[in-house]
Amino acid sequence: MATIAPKTLLQPSDIPNRRPRFRSNRTLRFTESVIREMTRLAVQHKAVNLAQGFPDFPAPEVLKNAAREAITADINQYAITWGSKPFRDAIAAKYRRTYGLEFDPEREITVCCGSTEGMMASLMAVTNPGDELVIFEPYYENYNPDALLCGAERKFVKLHPPDWRFDPEELRRAFSPKTKAIILNSPNNPTGRVFDRADLEVIAALCQEFDCLAITDEIYEHILYDGTTHVPMMQIPGMRDRTILVNSMSKTYAVTGWRVGWVLASPDLSDSIRKVHDFLTVGAAAPLQQAGAVALALPEDYYVALARDYTARRDAMLGVLEGAGFRCFHPRGAYYIMTDISGFGYPDDMEFARHLIEDVGVAAVPGSSFFEDPREGAQMIRFCFCKKYETLEEAKVRLSKI
Ligand SMILES: Cc1ncc(COP(=O)(O)O)c(C=O)c1O
Repeated sequence: MATIAPKTLLQPSDIPNRRPRFRSNRTLRFTESVIREMTRLAVQHKAVNLAQGFPDFPAPEVLKNAAREAITADINQYAITWGSKPFRDAIAAKYRRTYGLEFDPEREITVCCGSTEGMMASLMAVTNPGDELVIFEPYYENYNPDALLCGAERKFVKLHPPDWRFDPEELRRAFSPKTKAIILNSPNNPTGRVFDRADLEVIAALCQEFDCLAITDEIYEHILYDGTTHVPMMQIPGMRDRTILVNSMSKTYAVTGWRVGWVLASPDLSDSIRKVHDFLTVGAAAPLQQAGAVALALPEDYYVALARDYTARRDAMLGVLEGAGFRCFHPRGAYYIMTDISGFGYPDDMEFARHLIEDVGVAAVPGSSFFEDPREGAQMIRFCFCKKYETLEEAKVRLSKI
């Protein structure tokens, strides 16, 4: 039997490119997701996986029952391409209840296969090759290939540690007449920063001055700590019709594998987004949209308990990491902890990540995967803590031998 050579980190692909004629230019400017690569390596080395941000605890029973019932009731055929009516109605009702924002389910809501598709469909709908996109850095790694696949140019603006604030002057310098949109993720992955109203007002003023859009990834809207609140950009005066809001069920309801998300935007923007969405995927899984209608109707208590629960996990994980010698940037939202590894004396994050997986048995994400210039993340590692306490406890035992 052929033996499989152990993989090293960050190989973009194991398959040699013998036929370049069949590899499109648009796939050449980015590599495979480092985070998913870390997950594969974690499996290979039986490491505790604190790399990819998916919960290892069960999804709420009420949602699983709703999905089972939908399949039994034969909601098994294509839903309307932009989303089943009960789900769109539930989304509209949830935003009215939570934020006082009104959306027309017929013209302003598009249900997608996760916020991943929602972001890609939105960018494809509004950008032309050569347009510029402003992206805060460190960034959630998908925004980079998303922009490149659209032929858009990226303008990075730093979030500065330790509190991950941006410099308004630096932000202004990133805008130009070519800017089509700014991508904003708050609460932020990987830093845990939650943008406040004053931040949003600075960004909103630039969007209006340069006539561009804000595309907001609000997937961690309910995972907030220390009394922090989430402000959707759409609430900022002048931004309701200049914002494309992307969100999904993945994180809030612990169902990352369901692949159900949504995009909220004014009718003209939604019209283009729906066109792209229809031809990319037709639609998200119909029975899971039915369960989504149940999820979005959950009472306020659910979200209060979610934030409380994640606060306890965050505090436990901060204890584990600080106890093991990491310098932690304390997150105010989302479920990641960015750490400074300079105290460990490793030349870079890749070598440290390799050591963590192979010798310590814990997988995390090298900081360089969140930066355009890998040197900037070379002394950082990101851990996620959306895990059972047993998993966090096992990580603690292993990290004590670092
Ligand atoms: C900021 C951010 N956006 C989007 C996603 C992906 O979301 P979805 O599962 O809805 O495609 C993730 C997943 O980790 C994320 O961290």
